[in-house]
Amino acid sequence: MEERDLQKLLSEMSLDEKIDQMLQLNGQFYSEDSEVVTGPMKQFGINEKQINQAGSVLNVTGARNVKRIQDNYMKKNPHKIPLMFMADIINGYRTIFPMPLAQGCTFDTDLAKEIAAVSAREAARAGIHVTFSPMVDLVRDARWGRVMESTGEDTYLNCCFAQAMVEGYQGEDVGSKDTLAACVKHFAAYGLPTAGREYNNVELSERTLRDNYLPAYEAAVKAGCEMAMTSFNTINLIPVTGHSYLTRDILRGEMGFEGVLISDWASIAEMVNHGYAHDKKDAAYKAIVAGVDIDMMTDCYTNNLKKLVEEGQISEELIDEAVMRILKLKNKLGLFENPYKGADEIEDERAEIPEEHRKLARRAAAESFVLLKNDGLLPISKDSLEKGHRKIAFIGPYIFEKNMNSTWSFFVNTEDNVTIEEALKANGYNHNISLAKGSTILSPGDYVPGFAYNSYCDATEDELNQMRLEAVRKAKEADLVVMALGEHREQSGEGASRADITIPKVQMELFNAVYEVNKNIAVILFSGRPLDIRDINDKARAILEVWMPGTEGGNAIVDVIFGHTPPGGRLAMSFPYSVGQVPIFYNEFNTGRRLTQDNERTRCISKYLDIPNTPLYPFGYGLTYTDFQYSNITLSSNVLKSDTAIEARVAVTNIGNLAAKEVVQMYIQDLVGSVVRPIRELKGFKKILLQPGETQVVSFEINCEMLKFTDINMNFVAEHGQFKVYIGQDSTTENEAEFEFIK
Ligand code: NOJ
Repeated sequence: MEERDLQKLLSEMSLDEKIDQMLQLNGQFYSEDSEVVTGPMKQFGINEKQINQAGSVLNVTGARNVKRIQDNYMKKNPHKIPLMFMADIINGYRTIFPMPLAQGCTFDTDLAKEIAAVSAREAARAGIHVTFSPMVDLVRDARWGRVMESTGEDTYLNCCFAQAMVEGYQGEDVGSKDTLAACVKHFAAYGLPTAGREYNNVELSERTLRDNYLPAYEAAVKAGCEMAMTSFNTINLIPVTGHSYLTRDILRGEMGFEGVLISDWASIAEMVNHGYAHDKKDAAYKAIVAGVDIDMMTDCYTNNLKKLVEEGQISEELIDEAVMRILKLKNKLGLFENPYKGADEIEDERAEIPEEHRKLARRAAAESFVLLKNDGLLPISKDSLEKGHRKIAFIGPYIFEKNMNSTWSFFVNTEDNVTIEEALKANGYNHNISLAKGSTILSPGDYVPGFAYNSYCDATEDELNQMRLEAVRKAKEADLVVMALGEHREQSGEGASRADITIPKVQMELFNAVYEVNKNIAVILFSGRPLDIRDINDKARAILEVWMPGTEGGNAIVDVIFGHTPPGGRLAMSFPYSVGQVPIFYNEFNTGRRLTQDNERTRCISKYLDIPNTPLYPFGYGLTYTDFQYSNITLSSNVLKSDTAIEARVAVTNIGNLAAKEVVQMYIQDLVGSVVRPIRELKGFKKILLQPGETQVVSFEINCEMLKFTDINMNFVAEHGQFKVYIGQDSTTENEAEFEFIK
């Protein structure tokens, strides 16, 4: 449709119809069974007419189902405006890819773009039009369960992934059969809940908000993201869903966002709980004034906006503005021409996952695995197994576990997943291998409420003892033990903050019992967040962090531990030494009393008495099956001027015996500023493949844009002065050079 046709449509719509376009309901309201609908309808305080006019629906999928709902809806909708289907396609639809934090660890934005494109294709075939992704919230506190959904603790890295994911989902044309519109979330700073507790309030300075938290949302906007979601949290005591300065002035005004702004689930009504709105009507008022276009899952808008217009508290233009944005998105999606868009029963109901999707998932998983520790135990040689020189015991609850998907994998058939046990067999590792579960994932007494089901340990003490005994016996007979341990998948994600971020106790008991009889342990670590792994870190000889790797997890793990594919990941989020350090991040600030090697025994220094200041494993860190050597940095000039750029180069050599990828990372430090500056910040990275003995020269451009920050007068500028550039393997590299910036 042309813009004028949309205007005409808008002008013909009644006020009720317009307001209902701003309502988003979930699937229960569109069930085939009208009995099922009655309950929620009553509870929600809405009628059938409102359901038939609601503009969008969330988390309903399946081409057949979607088409049925769309057909029924269109029959009843006065102006035949198609319903828009949205869903949380976070790390895949049917093929589940590594969770987003793991994708961040790939440091490979092309890969993330490919993953987003495949996810979009699968979900579009199932009738989805919009995905609530990417989640680009900066995360520095591993207690928060949703760190798994972000690409990590670094602003620059998050910006790169935000752009790649939006481009991947939306492709060249959001109206095509293969693509989805993206929704960047959660605007803003949802990743900084006080004390890491879910939905908690956020306090931060406007400078930190601007310099660290906002850029990734802006990167998504600049990449053309069609939608944005407000977050649940308050920022400096104002709920974001009613925070006009953030949503109108910054998001729309400064960033130039022209798309649809949706609330998070019930976040409009929750302004009443926050004590920021008197009632739902007041909440609706505050949200519409802030420019929120869609009310997800409350009746605030549908039951109050008309009254607000009639009472003259808001103008109808405010409604028109929002509805026009919604209609424009429907139009871009091509729904007026084809309300089913990409929905395709044949493709959607295919018995098998396409082989190329599996291949991508397998590759992506290996690229996201971070080898934290290895004293030569990995990779295991297949040869030595076959010749009977070595016996390996595979022990732990994750050896047999099908579900290695992040919590945001709602629409999947877990039977499609490949376990470690299945992968061993399928890849021909049949000789001299023994397997034992050893324990459950959760400990007796643990209880994790879930979205669809609740998780707990269903084994008796007796059963656990038997399992452990069997595992210990097998460990004793083996030369080497591979232990697959970790958090339960439901222990991360939304509503899953943890104060104690260790591996469940029952598994630690198993680990220690195995350690008693066999010291050659390689741990395959599953988690939705960086964990406190001090115990296993001291004892295990190798640790491979595999996160929640998805459909092809088992195959990718087998590929990596047997050296078929080297581990390709580097940490996108620091592994704290213990929870006492969090929030912890590499780009911190110096204090006036900095800890150094010379003053560690002095009292009044910025340090802990009982733990180190540094994380167990820092941002950017990760080993692989070879070593790399870096040359010193060469700069094309020691002086950078505003309108030019300089080049920083290093030569990187693979000095080991195996080909592998290295993530070459460039950090910059502004030595003195009008406000204090971080000790360094990531400003560039390149992932390169090096054959044994091969050297590659890697160069980075440094320009004045990279040096900008919010200065003492709240201007975003680069200040003249001395800077250090660091290029190396992780955020602690000391390979440095210095340059001066002259305006
Ligand atoms: C609440 C979550 O915070 C958000 O990320 C998600 O997209 C919505 N629910 C819809 O499921």
